[in-house]
Amino acid sequence: MMLRNSLVAATALAVPLLAPLAFGHAGAQAAEISISCGAVGIELELCKSGADAWAEKTGNTVKIVSTPNSTTERLALYQQLLASGADDIDVFQIDVIWPGILGNHFIDLAAYSQGAEEAHFAPIVENNTVGGSLVAMPWYTDAGLLYYRKDLLEKHGRPVPATWQELTETAKYIQDAERAAGMDTLWGFVFQGKAYEGLTCDALEWVDSFGGGEIVGADGEITINNPKAIAAFELAGSWVGEISPDGVLNYAEEEARGVFQSGNAVFMRNWPYAWGLGNSADSPVKGKIGVTALPRGGPDGKNTGTLGGWQLSVSKYSAHPEIAADLVMYLTSEAEQKRRAIEGTYNPTIAALYEDEDVLAAAPFFGDLYETFTNAVARPSRVTGTKYNRVSNAFWNASHDVLSGKSDAATAMADLESELKRIKRRGW
Ligand code: GLC
Repeated sequence: MMLRNSLVAATALAVPLLAPLAFGHAGAQAAEISISCGAVGIELELCKSGADAWAEKTGNTVKIVSTPNSTTERLALYQQLLASGADDIDVFQIDVIWPGILGNHFIDLAAYSQGAEEAHFAPIVENNTVGGSLVAMPWYTDAGLLYYRKDLLEKHGRPVPATWQELTETAKYIQDAERAAGMDTLWGFVFQGKAYEGLTCDALEWVDSFGGGEIVGADGEITINNPKAIAAFELAGSWVGEISPDGVLNYAEEEARGVFQSGNAVFMRNWPYAWGLGNSADSPVKGKIGVTALPRGGPDGKNTGTLGGWQLSVSKYSAHPEIAADLVMYLTSEAEQKRRAIEGTYNPTIAALYEDEDVLAAAPFFGDLYETFTNAVARPSRVTGTKYNRVSNAFWNASHDVLSGKSDAATAMADLESELKRIKRRGW
């Protein structure tokens, strides 16, 4: 099919065994199941090793299909594949914001889960339930976090910033002092500033931390054009060229991590996966980094992080839905989530694992920042349903216009409000 060439497909391994299927589906014939996995950080390797283990155990084979790193590009690819009813991919890794957009292409996993979803965070299970169907099993969850260079803060006698205003000031101070001392590649703050879904996550954090709401309220009201949201964007609009490189306007997660992990930034906003990699054996900043909740928007603001995370779904067009569901149940199980938490600092969606000693030894912040994970702010994907991507697109473009200086914060929010009203016409 047309899209095939754009997919980097790698066939994995597992020699079919003669053993009957594990996981209680002994009647089914062995099959090849293809699964789409993300490739941010070490995600692809972890997906492959997990899927291979299942293949070995069950006698099936797996084909791993790696997809674009950008959530936005991945959605476009999935929409094309699913709209054509293609059976190329049996198991889809889907973003927490997609059940409403893609859910009608997926089977109800409740028929195969034997109630396993009850061990997972209830709001995520609810998020993944569309029209009464469990269209996706939670795989890992995410929340935006602040990474900082412990060594540089200590050297300059600065505390971890409690507010975005303090972060702005500390970033500039350390950046200037270090540059004056010869470290001229150092920047104060890196984040996701490219015009894509990642910027929606970052910008929602700025707005929510200032008390400026969630773009669209739970009741469907468009709330973004308010003084607190404008204040948040005024501050963020001062960063590019001052504490953040111009290039940040084109950074996604991995570009920001590249700069921070090579030692060239004081602060970084990123997801939990960046911890494991930042502390890996060959990381130049190993042992020098700290991680905490994102700052508040001023003394009256709040600490917040956008809720992210990924789920696994089985396509309605799969030729082997039962076997594909077995793979989903294996990958989302407690044992596999524990392995991924330890090897890659991917946050489990099973509360019990946040008290697991081995998990906490690998990722102590899973314990310290538990509240940040469980109180993360959701993007308005549930209330805006199938229109979410258009809403987010309008929001990230408005955010990008402010960051790049194309628009001032007040004008951008007023224009965004009009745009969202147009999108909402005839309702969400
Ligand atoms: C992370 C999050 C996901 C979000 C994406 C944006 O992958 O888990 O929910 O949409 O980043 O770039």
